[in-house]
Amino acid sequence: MTNQGAQSGGMARLQLPNKEVELPIVIGTEDEHAIDVTKLRGESGYITLDEGYRNTGSVESKISFIDGEKGILRYRGIPIEQLAEHSTFIETALLLIYGDLPTADHLAQFRDMLIEHENIHEGMRHCFQGFPPTGHPMAILSSMINTLSCYNTDVLRMEEEGTFENAAARLISKIRTVAAAAYRTSSGMPLMYPDPKLAYCKNFLHMMFSLPNRAYEPDPDIVRALSLFLILHADHEQNCSAATVRMVGSSGANLFASCAAGVCALWGPLHGGANVAVIEQLQRIHASGTSIKELIERVKRKEERLFGFGHGVYKNYDPRAHILRDHAPKVLAKLGRQDPLLDIARELEEICLSDDYFISRNLYPNVDFYSGMLLRAMGIPVNMYTVMFAIGRMPGWIAQWKEVHDNQSRIYRPRQVYTGPPLRDYVPVEQRA
Ligand code: ACO
Repeated sequence: MTNQGAQSGGMARLQLPNKEVELPIVIGTEDEHAIDVTKLRGESGYITLDEGYRNTGSVESKISFIDGEKGILRYRGIPIEQLAEHSTFIETALLLIYGDLPTADHLAQFRDMLIEHENIHEGMRHCFQGFPPTGHPMAILSSMINTLSCYNTDVLRMEEEGTFENAAARLISKIRTVAAAAYRTSSGMPLMYPDPKLAYCKNFLHMMFSLPNRAYEPDPDIVRALSLFLILHADHEQNCSAATVRMVGSSGANLFASCAAGVCALWGPLHGGANVAVIEQLQRIHASGTSIKELIERVKRKEERLFGFGHGVYKNYDPRAHILRDHAPKVLAKLGRQDPLLDIARELEEICLSDDYFISRNLYPNVDFYSGMLLRAMGIPVNMYTVMFAIGRMPGWIAQWKEVHDNQSRIYRPRQVYTGPPLRDYVPVEQRA
């Protein structure tokens, strides 16, 4: 069967040792060609082997599009550059989840739901006391997102119309409350309740930085920078965490549990955790006085990885890095601040982009290379960087989960080529060497 949505592009013929198999070619909206191998095993006994899935389209998806060679990213067809300039995070979230920009009424209604659900249950608030002060905010975040399954049992089963939207609004609203509480817990500060008078980004900054006896009034440029950061991180097709959310969701796991798994996948330094690794690497260069040339030589000798460079899909400049590269200095200038790490990053980029090691491997800055500069300007602590990424990515995870749910996808279950020992007998312990 040609999967729903893609165009038929004729047949591919695969010559196997004893047999020729015909496989359908499918073509996506942007002329991406794929061979549909769904029936290959049934017809030939063969499976495909593609470790790390780099050449495998695991799904047909309508959410975001990347052309890694050209450096293009679009959400539901709209270029990321246009959304970064004109949209808000909540509008972008609805675009990703439902496929179209929301009407003014839908946007207002969804914003009301975010306010309605911004608090977490008092019982959940007490859960934060169970974490040690040294607990990493990403560990706290993933645990607490999963804990939402215990406190929101009325929206776990999507049987009635409106339940999904209610669950989605709760997640997008509460992740902000949980994230701020995770930070306050890890720094020994009292938890702040959300303020229903404040819009999404400002409310988050309030919960992060206000004190019970001292209100925090963020600079409008910081609020806008946060919205931009969240928009740029909102989805990125079948990356490690989105694929995790889909995999978990395909088993029928609820939205909260599936997105908690996404948080865990995001934490790794090769994925969302890279935004921390970048800043730490730049800080090390700054503090130790290591020359950039020295670092690059170490990277070329494979003694170190240059964080914030390279990407599984982009073999060109990551368009999100372009936007952040331009925006971070503007925010710093408006706030009247300078950041020595920004100068180091720019010099590093300039040298790398003219070095054959990086050119020949198509290694360009990715989103994480400059995102830390913006977070530093906002006063976000380094251990919260990946949490910030998770807040931004939540709408994408929800959209990916919804696509699995709406399509009533079969449980995701890859196969393997077994390379372990052949059949052998159990040996009793006294006979083992
Ligand atoms: N620094 C130095 N060399 C690199 C880097 C890097 N950052 N990235 C790739 N290379 C080299 C590899 O050593 C390899 O060289 P070789 O051909 O001599 O063996 C070649 O480039 C290809 O590398 P792969 O690891 O095959 O590239 P892959 O596409 O699998 O990896 C990844 C992508 C994980 C992002 C990688 O580029 C990396 O580790 N980058 C640093 C971490 C990072 O910034 N991650 C964030 C990604 S964006 C995101 O998830 C939000």
